[in-house]
Amino acid sequence: MQHIRNFSIIAHIDHGKSTLADRIIQFCGGLSDREMEEQVLDSMELERERGITIKAQTVALKYPSLDGQVYLLNLIDTPGHVDFSYEVSRSLAACEGALLVVDASQGVEAQTVANCYTAIEQGVEVIPVLNKIDLPAADPERVVAEIEDIIGIDAKDALRVSAKTGEGIQAMLEAVVKRIPTPKGDPDAPLKALIIDSWFDNYVGVVILVRVVDGVLKPGNKIMLMANRTAYLCEQVGAFLPKAESRDSLAAGEVGYVISGIKELKSAKVGDTVTLADNPATAPLAGFKEIKPQVFAGLYPVESNQYDALRAALEKLQLNDSSLQFEPETSQALGFGFRCGFLGLLHLDIVQERLEREYDMDLITTAPTVVYQVVLRDGTITEIENPSKMPDLSKIVEIREPIITTTILVPEEYVGVVMSLCTGKRGIQRNMQYMGRQVMLVYEMPLNEVVMDFFDKLKSVSRGYASLDYEFKEFRASDLVKLDILINNEKVDALSLIVHRASSQQRGRELAQKMRELIPRQMFDIAVQAAIGAHVVARENVKALRKNVLAKCYGGDITRKRKLLEKQKAGKKRMKRVGNVEIPQAAFLAILQVG
Ligand code: GTP
Repeated sequence: MQHIRNFSIIAHIDHGKSTLADRIIQFCGGLSDREMEEQVLDSMELERERGITIKAQTVALKYPSLDGQVYLLNLIDTPGHVDFSYEVSRSLAACEGALLVVDASQGVEAQTVANCYTAIEQGVEVIPVLNKIDLPAADPERVVAEIEDIIGIDAKDALRVSAKTGEGIQAMLEAVVKRIPTPKGDPDAPLKALIIDSWFDNYVGVVILVRVVDGVLKPGNKIMLMANRTAYLCEQVGAFLPKAESRDSLAAGEVGYVISGIKELKSAKVGDTVTLADNPATAPLAGFKEIKPQVFAGLYPVESNQYDALRAALEKLQLNDSSLQFEPETSQALGFGFRCGFLGLLHLDIVQERLEREYDMDLITTAPTVVYQVVLRDGTITEIENPSKMPDLSKIVEIREPIITTTILVPEEYVGVVMSLCTGKRGIQRNMQYMGRQVMLVYEMPLNEVVMDFFDKLKSVSRGYASLDYEFKEFRASDLVKLDILINNEKVDALSLIVHRASSQQRGRELAQKMRELIPRQMFDIAVQAAIGAHVVARENVKALRKNVLAKCYGGDITRKRKLLEKQKAGKKRMKRVGNVEIPQAAFLAILQVG
């Protein structure tokens, strides 16, 4: 055990975590250059394009240290986005150390701070690493000062590396070996292994990645997952080098995979404890949480005959994404579809994109919403995930909305605009601290306001410099109302939304105006209204169209004409007919562009 080092990389998106991990693997001789191309750590095509690590993967590497010993380095990958902060906390719980990677040309960002605090809470040894020192804009001195000011850890020995050129990698690995503690744990105690990650493999079923804390796990053992107390037969254990290689056992301190005939991903929850059925541990490892979706949206096929295909696609995605939830939903406006639950906005984006790209679905997505707790007059409390399902106000005593605590880091010159943005989104300031040239703002904000377009607005008012992290705090009672949109006097359920009473009139007006711009003119007048209960707060008209679009073409130019027709057809794909009005996808998301 004294030659094992378990560590993660903490970094803000784009600060170079994947590149650094690749470089470490290469340095330890894990892969050839060509295999590097095929990439293991960041393997999904989508991830590659977006540059986001979605699914954590882990490698076991042999590192011949300058002290003459060979060390086994377990590099435990962590997802790089706020939506996956629970997974990050479980990965860190499996480590004794973490490399805190900060782009030396950028500096510390909010997410780095949040993840670093998580690491410190878990008692993990944090080693600051300044990456991208090859860039002319790199300013290591400033970034060292920032790490010390903002995070409050000693950074004078921060390592300076370039994941791109390979400079400083060996010195960094020496620091891993010297500064990260040897794993502790009792190989003779009953088995306790932490589930860091799990995924579905078509050939072997569910694969779980564990960190063995105490005891030893061998093929042939009967294991038990402590959250549900279900038992399975352990068929194979092994490690990723980075290719999977089976082993005789996994012992205290080690990290590796377990295959045990588990059929469904949701049986192997991240954070759960694996023990032996015949000699179980008395208590599970601390920190296990059931994670619940926070953001919901309706997904509807544009063509109703694609409903079954959409269900099949969602089922397939769920095989490898247990945090994705869905259930059938019917909308008067959109027909048959699914109400889907996501961890956050990015998660929603990824799922939507995969459905379109990998499964070739044409979808109408409704604006994302959050879960509301509704206290009814008869004393019952229900959870509402879809605004159109909100009970009549006369039956409601109280509506409670989810509140988050958000931490924003922003350069001094943008503090004013960021503060007024937060206040406009009903934020309550909890803290404000000057740290070097940056300011840390802590706000409590309704998640409802954040799912609208807060991230985009924050980035735009701060010219891209602000960074943000958030976590759920509590449900809190608030004066909320349902705003309905009517098109030619017909209520469009998929456009209903919940807003605060104080801003409801203005939102209604802006939304009606936006819809007027987004709904293409048709052969008749269209009335767009926004209403709260029976009270109409705004009305706009989309004037009837008289001219033939083809009239724009020069007579006889058939290619132009065809192009125009094709363009019209493509535009139509994303339309839904409500009554006799064609409504484009953009209109269903108009709410994201107002307020
Ligand atoms: P996520 O996977 O989105 O969390 O990003 P990441 O932190 O893994 O960043 P990634 O490794 O994808 O690197 C982001 C960008 O920075 C890429 O374009 C890299 O090529 C570049 N990059 C990474 N390390 C270095 C470095 O040392 N020097 C320079 N010049 N560029 C680097």
